[in-house]
Amino acid sequence: MELVRSTNLSALLVLLSCFCLQFGSAIDTITAAKFINDSETIISNGGDFKLGFFSPPNSTDRYVGIWYAEISVFTVVWVANRNNPLKNSSGVLTISEDGNLVVLDGQKKILWSSNLTNSVVNLSAQLLDSGNLVLQGNTTGTFLWESFQHPSNTFIEKMKISTDVRTGKKVQLTSWTSPSDPSIGNFSAGIDARNLPELFIWNGSRPYWRSGPWNGLVFIGLQNMYSVFHDGFSLVDDKEGTIYLSFSSSNDSFPYTYVLNEQGNLLEAYSNNSGEDWEVTWSSYKTECDVYGKCGAYGSCNSHNSPICSCLRGFEPKNTEEWNRGNWTSGCVRRTPLQCERVNNGSDGGKKDGFLKLTMMKVPDLADWSSAREENCRNQCLENCSCIAYAFDAGTGCMPWTRSLIDLQKFSSGGVDLYVRVAYSELDTKEKVKVIITVSVIIVLIFTGICTYLLWRWMAKQNGRRKTKMLLYKFSGEEKLGDNVNQVKLQELLLFNLQELASATNNFHQSNKLGQGGFGPVYRGKLSNGQEIAVKRLSRDSGQGQEEFMNEVVVISKLQHRNLVRLHGCCVEGEEKMLVYEYMPNKSLDAFLFDPVKSKLLDWRRRFNIIEGICPGLLYLHRDSRLKIIPRDLKTSNILLDEELNPKISDFGLARIFGGNGDQANTTRVVGTYGYMSPEYAMKGRFSEKSDVFSFRVLLLEIVSGRRNSSFFDDEQDMSLPGFAWKMWNADNIVALTDPIICEPSFEMEILRCINVGLLCVQDFANDRPTVPIVISMLKSEIIDLPLPKQPAFTEREIAPDASSSQNNQSKCSVNNVTVTMVQGR
Ligand SMILES: *[C@@H]1O[C@H](CO)[C@@H](O)[C@H](O)[C@H]1NC(C)=O
Ligand SMILES: *[C@@H]1O[C@H](CO)[C@@H](O)[C@H](O)[C@H]1NC(C)=O
Ligand SMILES: *[C@@H]1O[C@H](CO)[C@@H](O)[C@H](O)[C@H]1NC(C)=O
Ligand SMILES: *[C@@H]1O[C@H](CO)[C@@H](O)[C@H](O)[C@H]1NC(C)=O
Ligand SMILES: *[C@@H]1O[C@H](CO)[C@@H](O)[C@H](O)[C@H]1NC(C)=O
Ligand SMILES: *[C@@H]1O[C@H](CO)[C@@H](O)[C@H](O)[C@H]1NC(C)=O
Ligand SMILES: *[C@@H]1O[C@H](CO)[C@@H](O)[C@H](O)[C@H]1NC(C)=O
Ligand SMILES: *[C@@H]1O[C@H](CO)[C@@H](O)[C@H](O)[C@H]1NC(C)=O
Ligand SMILES: *[C@@H]1O[C@H](CO)[C@@H](O)[C@H](O)[C@H]1NC(C)=O
Ligand SMILES: *[C@@H]1O[C@H](CO)[C@@H](O)[C@H](O)[C@H]1NC(C)=O
Ligand SMILES: *[C@@H]1O[C@H](CO)[C@@H](O)[C@H](O)[C@H]1NC(C)=O
Ligand SMILES: *[C@@H]1O[C@H](CO)[C@@H](O)[C@H](O)[C@H]1NC(C)=O
Repeated sequence: MELVRSTNLSALLVLLSCFCLQFGSAIDTITAAKFINDSETIISNGGDFKLGFFSPPNSTDRYVGIWYAEISVFTVVWVANRNNPLKNSSGVLTISEDGNLVVLDGQKKILWSSNLTNSVVNLSAQLLDSGNLVLQGNTTGTFLWESFQHPSNTFIEKMKISTDVRTGKKVQLTSWTSPSDPSIGNFSAGIDARNLPELFIWNGSRPYWRSGPWNGLVFIGLQNMYSVFHDGFSLVDDKEGTIYLSFSSSNDSFPYTYVLNEQGNLLEAYSNNSGEDWEVTWSSYKTECDVYGKCGAYGSCNSHNSPICSCLRGFEPKNTEEWNRGNWTSGCVRRTPLQCERVNNGSDGGKKDGFLKLTMMKVPDLADWSSAREENCRNQCLENCSCIAYAFDAGTGCMPWTRSLIDLQKFSSGGVDLYVRVAYSELDTKEKVKVIITVSVIIVLIFTGICTYLLWRWMAKQNGRRKTKMLLYKFSGEEKLGDNVNQVKLQELLLFNLQELASATNNFHQSNKLGQGGFGPVYRGKLSNGQEIAVKRLSRDSGQGQEEFMNEVVVISKLQHRNLVRLHGCCVEGEEKMLVYEYMPNKSLDAFLFDPVKSKLLDWRRRFNIIEGICPGLLYLHRDSRLKIIPRDLKTSNILLDEELNPKISDFGLARIFGGNGDQANTTRVVGTYGYMSPEYAMKGRFSEKSDVFSFRVLLLEIVSGRRNSSFFDDEQDMSLPGFAWKMWNADNIVALTDPIICEPSFEMEILRCINVGLLCVQDFANDRPTVPIVISMLKSEIIDLPLPKQPAFTEREIAPDASSSQNNQSKCSVNNVTVTMVQGR
């Protein structure tokens, strides 16, 4: 009996395993013969996506859909029979006799079909690893139908949201009606290509939200697109009439999705598959101002104001009573007619119109596009009577408006400068300026007063806190501390204890590691009060005692400048020595500059801004701070970037802890990075502030060329970047040296100037090199005639660069023009 039962069991097991093998060995295809019923699913070849029947939460209706197979939170990305649910579990998904993919109910009634008309027989439907369900014949590779062309509410990687300009056919997202009903809701999201292409969300047929035009890198109507969106967003005109948007995430292990929810809100979310819900990292609707045309024509929305809407300067509410009631839909009208209108009415035109400049604006809808360069954009608009505003963006080009300005928003950062045409009399007169100045002076005075008071309060509080902290520490021999560091200064330094930092960085967990600096690893951390910090755990023994170390840290923490990374404090406990810095979200400059994707974010304006930011930081260290610090290890990885990509010098002063002290000193050990070091430092270990100027040139040239200095050492040509620069400078071939991304004729002079300064900074003799203040004047064009550089160091082994490489660069250079032509297409 026992025996029989066990044989039965093993027979069952064999049967089961057969069953599992058959269905478990990743069946990813459906044919007329191999259809699936309600209890079966198919899995894509790599196991990322599943297709089968499901019910949404709080619903018993059955739908055919595709969802993530590996993410524990059930997430549907596509639904077939959205508007025709199955009422029970007797449905099947199969290929019908006419070759269509169909969902049938228990009575073989077609609830949903791929609706191909001239379909061929013996088709198969395959679920690809991208999440795309494709219908193909015996010729693989050509898809007769694909689910990516018929999206639901979810936009995933490798999908394309598109618009056919000629036929107007759109591939767009459509919202669900409710979380438990996937039927087509009121909202859709797609590309609007009437003017400059941009992303729109519609409520029914009315626009509900817009992104602003694409400028080749970002949508210019979005605030902070840099920090929010991923690398690899692209809007492409395929030159055959289709414009499409796609994205690729920089890290495949975390899937990102964009979901258009039932309220018309486009959400960016990712899952780290920890069993928790998707984390929303961005949403299209943040404030009321994001609703299209909230303030009507010529009205500007600012979510920080109350009321949020105001008329542009020179305009007044069309209907004051309505406006005051908070119904802004009818917008504003012009107060004083423009010159053109006055002339048309037969009267004397009077003085020429002018432009009012509005900064940090979301570009209004319905921009036209003109090929005018930045300097002509204004004149072109002024000469055209129907032009009412213009703006210029480096990527998009000149944008004039001839229709009412609608959907304007005032940002607190980013945006474009919008120039609105007004009659001469509306322009600022001297009186107005006087009033404005008086008012602002008063405001500033009041503000300063308040700030001073708050600061005083805060400092008092902090002092109290630090004092208690200090009690935790036993200082041996405080009386021995140097003259320049007294008790008070030590108290100003925030001392952290090891436990606090360990819990802030999750016990110095590998996932919090930001990088490995020259002096030890750096971790990202979050203090219990929510403040983000970067903790440098010094690995090298500084060879200093506790007080000496603290002295140095106090000294360094006193150096405060907007272009220096702020040192918050330190921690000394046992063997451990740690420095606590402010956290810089955008990491270091090299991470941007040498990354093929991220480098596109650094247009010339930004790069110049970075160059301009490093100088004052350096100047402060060299001249304006009391101590005269020589950073010595100035390089791209030591330039950190804040949210707005402003540069901050890091790691300065560490040489004081590890090296000797004082400048113009000799050291036995060479601190610094080969290629950045000045000849006298590399050879003789002598350093001075002019050594930093030498390092600065490499930075400058790297920023301009987008190439690593070290990349040249690997080159067959075996030439340093300054050597190459020198060669190209003499050959009058600046284009070959310039990063194709920033290569644009309008910046040529500025780039040339930077290279000239860069070469001056690398002169062999320290005395030939300009000091930092002179470099600043040179860059700002205060010194017009730059001295011509002499041949720099490290250029001995020169071979003429081959012509093909420079040719290459030149052709790459036109990439920019291509982007513009794409935009021009409309
Ligand atoms: C689905 O098909 C499988 C095998 O073909 C069968 O065992 C199962 O009972 C079917 N389920 C339904 C609900 O028809
Ligand atoms: C489902 O119903 C419950 C109870 O009515 C409700 O709390 C929950 O939010 C609903 N879930 C969804 C997704 O609608
Ligand atoms: C499922 O519903 C269909 C009608 O939609 C019906 O014909 C069929 O009998 C039902 N099957 C079951 C098992 O209830
Ligand atoms: C297929 O065509 C039918 C009839 O024209 C239509 O009702 C249905 O919505 C179409 N289905 C899809 C998925 O387009
Ligand atoms: C379709 O497939 C079936 C079975 O795989 C085969 O017998 C039949 O010949 C095929 N028909 C055509 C037209 O290829
Ligand atoms: C594919 O099938 C069609 C008929 O459905 C047939 O005419 C054609 O020759 C087949 N092609 C190949 C490569 O088998
Ligand atoms: C869709 O719009 C209609 C009116 O046009 C409204 O009655 C309905 O509630 C809206 N549905 C959703 C989900 O907002
Ligand atoms: C969408 O439009 C409908 C009317 O067409 C309106 O009732 C609804 O409030 C709108 N939804 C939003 C979120 O504005
Ligand atoms: C993606 O992220 C995971 C976890 O943070 C990391 O281990 C992996 O290296 C990353 N992959 C890439 C390609 O960046
Ligand atoms: C995933 O994210 C959640 C919250 O966003 C976080 O608590 C959790 O630690 C993360 N898990 C992993 C493995 O990164
Ligand atoms: C706002 O004003 C417009 C135009 O006068 C009118 O059509 C609309 O009904 C008003 N809306 C509200 C909420 O009063
Ligand atoms: C032009 O003249 C007409 C009537 O002569 C008047 O109604 C209109 O307001 C005038 N427009 C301007 C801009 O002065």
